[in-house]
Amino acid sequence: MSAPSRPADALPGHPHIVRRGDALMIEALRADELARRFGTPLYVYSRAAIEQAARQYEDAARDHPLALRYSVKANSSKAILQLLQRRGWGFDVVSGGELARVLDAGGSADKVVFSGVGKTDAELLAALRAGVQCINVESTSELERIDRLAGGLGVQAPISLRVNPDVDPRTHPYMSTGLRTSKFGIDQAQARQAYARCAQLRNLRVLGIDVHIGSQITTLGPYLDALDRVLELVRDIEHDGIRLHHLDLGGGLGIRYAGESPPAPGEWIAALSERLRARGQGHRALLVEPGRSVVGNSGVLLCRAITLKSTLERHFAVVDAAMNDLMRPALYEAWQAIEPAVLREDGHALRYDVVGPVCESGDWLGRERMLDLREGDVLAILSAGAYGMAMASNYNTRGRAAEVLVDGEQAHLVRERETLDDLLRCERGLPG
Ligand code: LLP
Repeated sequence: MSAPSRPADALPGHPHIVRRGDALMIEALRADELARRFGTPLYVYSRAAIEQAARQYEDAARDHPLALRYSVKANSSKAILQLLQRRGWGFDVVSGGELARVLDAGGSADKVVFSGVGKTDAELLAALRAGVQCINVESTSELERIDRLAGGLGVQAPISLRVNPDVDPRTHPYMSTGLRTSKFGIDQAQARQAYARCAQLRNLRVLGIDVHIGSQITTLGPYLDALDRVLELVRDIEHDGIRLHHLDLGGGLGIRYAGESPPAPGEWIAALSERLRARGQGHRALLVEPGRSVVGNSGVLLCRAITLKSTLERHFAVVDAAMNDLMRPALYEAWQAIEPAVLREDGHALRYDVVGPVCESGDWLGRERMLDLREGDVLAILSAGAYGMAMASNYNTRGRAAEVLVDGEQAHLVRERETLDDLLRCERGLPG
């Protein structure tokens, strides 16, 4: 598959990442120079791109009561959390670790929602002690456990139940979370009873209802279907005398990787708000947990071609980034655009498989890409701001990449490259 055709200079869907002459620019800085200055593999984010995406959500919040809770799992870098926290955003976390990161970045617990299908007692206690806004509960057994833990602390736990509406989000199966067969949430049919149980438990305070159907969703239909399903339930639950203060509709809005044209954040919120009004529920406060659509197209992964090799079957560009740095292609066969940092037009373009050095055939970053390359050239893998660094590992004893946030003409190193010492620090040899 070759890159989709595009007008000169514009990289569609990638604000602030442009081609100027031969050079790929992140805001005012050349990608090849960033690679030289900070080394590769290197994650680079555009502050202006993140702020532009954030602003679209903030604008939508003017027209409908809307709480913005950035989903930390998409990219948990401290600098990005700080940037959003300073704009007034709260956070969606899924572990005690993410909660600690948010607090460390200056986020306030009363704007944190805590989701996740398997929260431990220690994590729940940390959330209750910190005073999070809401715990999204995923089973009746978790409900009983939270009641007990909150009772032990002498507090009331603010909770929502995560309901599984059995709606197909029409995305990759690994990114679908609201189907009946999924491990997430409480079945729609069992939710009314679960709320009734909440009302009997003294250490719980019901705040709302939560639903998240999946990720990289590129059409509005599944969201509207899920909303309709949840509103039926809201009616029944409130009929039973339980008041729901907010509807948490999760995250999931897709971005443009190749030719997709997902709704903009403002369109998404406007459509939800309109559906609420049409159902006589225009007053309902919404809470959303976007991740990918805030940071995904603000970031690139820069890497350098180590070796170009041609076998009888294929041409390979072996680069210094690998599946441990960017797992999405290996895990989901995800397609992300690959652009040379400096365009060559030597007439030596070949159809390359861009692969990493890791000892697995699944270690590829892009397949069959027409590229005019020489060894040592820098490549940028686009749309790498979400679920890139956040999913990186140390497989093959590879230190994780450094991260840079570009702000106009400035480049801030926001995470140092992991060293071998970092990797070996937790290991203990056998005695004797
Ligand atoms: N809220 C909940 C409860 C979630 O499970 C997720 C993502 C989000 C919010 C944020 O969704 P977003 O706006 O980022 O789509 N690793 C995969 C994506 C997994 C998403 C998991 N849940 C990928 O690389 O595409």
